[in-house]
Amino acid sequence: MCGIVGYIGNGSTQSVLVEGLKKLEYRGYDSAGIAVFTNKGLEVVKAQGRLVNLEAKLEDEPLVGTAGIGHTRWATHGKPSDANSHPHTDESQKFSVVHNGIVENYLDLKDELIAQGHTFTSETDTEIIAHLIARAYDGDIVKAVREAITHMRGAFALGVLTEYEPTKLVAVRQASPLIIGLGDGENFIGSDIPAILEYTRNVYILNDGEMAVLTQDSVELMTIEGNFISREMIHVDWDAVTAEKGGFEYFMLKEIHEQPKAYRDTMLGRIDEQGEKVILPELKLTPDQIMNIRNIQIIGCGTAYHAGLVGRNVIETLVRIPVETDVASEYRYRSPIVSPDTLVIVVSQSGETADTLAALREAKANGAHVLAITNVVGSSIARDADDVIATLAGPEIAVASTKAYTSQLIAFYLLGLYLAEVRGTQTPEAVKEMIQAMQALPEQLDMMLEQSESIKAYAEQISHHEHLFFIGRGLDFAVAQEGSLKLKEISYIHSEAYPAGELKHGTLALIEDGTPVIALVTQESVLEKTVSNIKEVSARGADIMVITYEEHAATLLKSVDQVFVIPKTLPLLSPALAVVSLQLLSYYASLALGNDVDKPRNLAKSVTVE
Ligand code: F6R
Repeated sequence: MCGIVGYIGNGSTQSVLVEGLKKLEYRGYDSAGIAVFTNKGLEVVKAQGRLVNLEAKLEDEPLVGTAGIGHTRWATHGKPSDANSHPHTDESQKFSVVHNGIVENYLDLKDELIAQGHTFTSETDTEIIAHLIARAYDGDIVKAVREAITHMRGAFALGVLTEYEPTKLVAVRQASPLIIGLGDGENFIGSDIPAILEYTRNVYILNDGEMAVLTQDSVELMTIEGNFISREMIHVDWDAVTAEKGGFEYFMLKEIHEQPKAYRDTMLGRIDEQGEKVILPELKLTPDQIMNIRNIQIIGCGTAYHAGLVGRNVIETLVRIPVETDVASEYRYRSPIVSPDTLVIVVSQSGETADTLAALREAKANGAHVLAITNVVGSSIARDADDVIATLAGPEIAVASTKAYTSQLIAFYLLGLYLAEVRGTQTPEAVKEMIQAMQALPEQLDMMLEQSESIKAYAEQISHHEHLFFIGRGLDFAVAQEGSLKLKEISYIHSEAYPAGELKHGTLALIEDGTPVIALVTQESVLEKTVSNIKEVSARGADIMVITYEEHAATLLKSVDQVFVIPKTLPLLSPALAVVSLQLLSYYASLALGNDVDKPRNLAKSVTVE
């Protein structure tokens, strides 16, 4: 989830690119760079770290020219560094590329290019694109780009320049967003509207499988097969702040809506082409080490810890290895029992949480192999861990975590299946069934999000209450805990999550007439038991809302007040759908109370103190 901007025209190319990147910096900020046609040819300046570092470099060596591309990076392949920053060029330095997305088969392509004599200077998947284009070039950049992308699998949005044809800027979209901005004697590309809003409000939105060729005075749109297309121009009337939030009122809602994409991106390149096996090429953990794992400990804080609760259930079910979960601030001080056969999994969106980092170091010092599930590739946790599975949710701005949490669930599903394949604990049919169900999740989530307004009325209703309860069994209890935390942190309503069967051991005393209770009922194996618990609270006057599948809605409606239906999936996967209704519930409750949803009181996005 990086940012792309491109410009062709007689204006100040450098400042259009840098200003555009400033608007996109929220999408990634571990490095940035620009390439500009100057009177010396195609010149590239890049710098690790925040955009100010690039600006400082440009102050010493400004680039003056009539076309350029720029990029702000959120590392996926290769750590943040000058070498891994975009734009990337081929060896001749005549072709320059900026890229968003992931080229799934880049390692195979890289081997092929190396065998043909190409040499590489970065660890990125993007550099191979510049080489593929250079290899294909025979005097027509559009043809060369089209040829190059026939070899690439995955998601990409590209901006391409070549010194041989300085009057052209080529843009491609394949499953990563890209827009074209139309100016007067100048044209633009951007991964997002804010990048170009200062210069034009007239845009074309490219669809997947489409490309554009821009000159100063023209924009030609075509399919990647080369068939010309026409497109209606859109006039954007958002203000700059709304544009940054993609038209949503708050980043949290935008991020909730980005989850289908986050699911797809996190799975991309990690499932084989037949959809039968999980491949985790990044793992250093060997099959022998996996066979020797005796126990697993999953550690995180807050929402990341809650993802670990789901992870425990997933791994125990699929792999039959005992798993413990712990909050990092407890783990680090409890002298955990760890051996070289212990796999410790630390979960952290930011990769900088002080307690999680300390827990990781404690586990490592005791000899465990530590695998990090994190959203920030160059973070301290990613650097210190032995292994990393990156969640590809893109930067999360809202303090309340949504898409990072659900991407962590996807990472656990992938890891669980991978471990199960190596240890032979699941049949190939069961693995395939789960992979298919995972691949259906993004579309199911899209369907759910279309109906998100239906949860708004209920959220407004509960926003007047001071206390409420979430209940569920098994994975539903894990999701209940995350739902309760989300509600507390942004609406400031007191809530508690309980295993549905545990209420009668004390907490039932708190249920009185009208107390809201939200019950999750997605785990078929304990469905009847949960329904009995629902009846217990109903008999004490609770006002009950149930989240369940369509097939149970009618029956449940006889004993509860409201039902919210989620699409049917496998029991292990239901958290990835059910939790989204709870994210929406807390979002709308917070909104109804007039809170600053993105910046809840007393909280910070990254907790780097103990
Ligand atoms: C809640 C939330 C926090 C974080 C926790 C850990 O919405 O975001 O509970 O999950 O502070 O942060 P990371 O994942 O960055 O280690």
